[in-house]
Amino acid sequence: MNWRERRYSSELSLKDVGQTIEMSGWVDTIRDHGQVLFIHLRDKQGVVQMVFDPNVDAECAKQGAALHSEYAITVKGEVKERADEAKNPNLPTGDIELQISEVTVHSTSKTVPFMITEKSQVDEESAEFNVDEDIRLTYRYLDLRRISMQKNLLRRHEIVQSIRSILNEKSFIDVETPILTKSTPEGARDYLVPSRVHEHKFYALPQSPQLFKQLLMISGMDRYYQITRCFRDEDLRPNRQPEFTQLDLEASFIDESFVYELLETIMIRLFKEQRNVDLSSGFPQITYADCLDQYGNDRPDLRFDMTLVNVTEACNGVSYKIFQSIIDNGGLIKGINLKGKSSELSKSYLQEEIAKKTAAKIGVRGISWMRIEDGKLQSNIVQFFSEEQQANLIKQMNGENGDVLFFIADTNHGTVNDALGRLRLILGEQHGLINKDDVKPCWVIDFPLFEKKEGRLHSLHHPFTQPKGDISKMTDDEISSVNARAYDLVINGEEVGGGSIRIHDSSEQKKIFELLGLSADDIEQKFGFFVNALQYGTPPHGGLAIGIDRLVCILTQNASIREVIAFPKNRVAACPLTQAPDYVSADQLEELSIKQTALKEVEA
Ligand code: AMO
Repeated sequence: MNWRERRYSSELSLKDVGQTIEMSGWVDTIRDHGQVLFIHLRDKQGVVQMVFDPNVDAECAKQGAALHSEYAITVKGEVKERADEAKNPNLPTGDIELQISEVTVHSTSKTVPFMITEKSQVDEESAEFNVDEDIRLTYRYLDLRRISMQKNLLRRHEIVQSIRSILNEKSFIDVETPILTKSTPEGARDYLVPSRVHEHKFYALPQSPQLFKQLLMISGMDRYYQITRCFRDEDLRPNRQPEFTQLDLEASFIDESFVYELLETIMIRLFKEQRNVDLSSGFPQITYADCLDQYGNDRPDLRFDMTLVNVTEACNGVSYKIFQSIIDNGGLIKGINLKGKSSELSKSYLQEEIAKKTAAKIGVRGISWMRIEDGKLQSNIVQFFSEEQQANLIKQMNGENGDVLFFIADTNHGTVNDALGRLRLILGEQHGLINKDDVKPCWVIDFPLFEKKEGRLHSLHHPFTQPKGDISKMTDDEISSVNARAYDLVINGEEVGGGSIRIHDSSEQKKIFELLGLSADDIEQKFGFFVNALQYGTPPHGGLAIGIDRLVCILTQNASIREVIAFPKNRVAACPLTQAPDYVSADQLEELSIKQTALKEVEA
């Protein structure tokens, strides 16, 4: 084996015909055509067909016959043009093959738990890869051998390189911040690490580098970035991992427009490079209030319309008791219009699938539906609406013949928005309204600084975000509804990133902590070092963090962020490969002064 001579499959084409070359990789598919053996050699970039012909080299053909899937080999052979009828247009190397003259087997392989070959690379049959995810993760090192997974990781690398190069050009510097640290409030639970040296004390793994990047601004670093791991112990969702990667950045003496311009530059370049999509026509800014009103949530999917319409007024006075009592109790009724789909939807689908099953799925008691036919509404509840009320409703909903209208009513306004927003997405998906190749980014702005839960204020982003306006001059009521200088970057209905302009005044920061219900002792114990640091000439500053896993997932059009992470955790936050998290020995616990009661209970 001479690694200097090694050629990769992606380099080979008809121009190499006649050359004798060396290649290394793994045995992929094996096809036995009578005497002649055709075996695909797979390397990180693709496959090449090797030919073992006993009429050309009997000894070598014998070695070929002894090869099995996933053996690691090096071969030498002459590049030949395939006969026309044997050419495979689906394979980048489909015009050529290697007539093998030498084989070295470096290591054999046990029978693999799933096929690694990607059929679509080999012939026209495009086989879906549907191996159980936990098996894939248990054998992740084999799963990653698949060319599509190699490509995902390669593209992730390219994306990160492009981001780095833009930020480096703009004088951002990459600074590492601690992993063993103190809790940073980002709304999740902390992962804790017990300290052996400091008995009974714990480090927290960072939920983000938020406080350190702000301290770096106080240090005069001016423009910082880091591509770093964050840790959050929170409820799992398909687009969440307990440890994930952020592009975290921060800059001083800037305002929101700096962040928008910078991120738009990065996104335009990445989407051009990775998907050949031009995003230069703009990133609309939508207020949080408009998002909730029109899309039902704060991460609008702008790839299709079907926005939410408030019809509470239009329904006031109808004899439909459910609606009227909701209106009388200060409730909200909103609708969406599924345009032109009436003829495709049977009554039983509307009644059983939507009004019952989907309603239960999205957390409401019911969904009312009405078709528009011959300029009139049709449904099991239209008799409760006068002609005039019907006409008014059709007008409000911008209805035409063939449309189907869906309504959700509830006394809780949040429930209506949330449920109808979800119904919008479900119907959009089911009825093909979402063009999967579209990319629709936007900035969501003007978030409230606080949300109220059980009578207490909580930060919607985090407590370091600057309020819009001087809260020292506001009443408590005004403060509780003040907006924040915060922004989220949303792409195709997914929150890709978020950030804000920060508080740079220590008394304002203290006031925010107080409003959040922290006592003077709490503030001192948790954030004393930070409030103190703010008192030493803090520059105005702000920044944002992008979820790299989510961004790469969108750029590579994968279904889950687990496809673009080398060793992700599964749906229950465990690693089937290493069996983490795992028990530790009694000695280790003792050393850390941790009592074993919990362990004994689990084992009992
Ligand atoms: P935030 O909490 O919004 O902001 O996080 C920024 C982005 O990180 C991604 N993200 C996740 N990705 C995968 N798994 C998770 N569990 C997960 N949680 C978050 C999202 C999100 O938009 N310190 C602030 C940023 C700032 O203010 O500068 C922060 O962390 O894409």
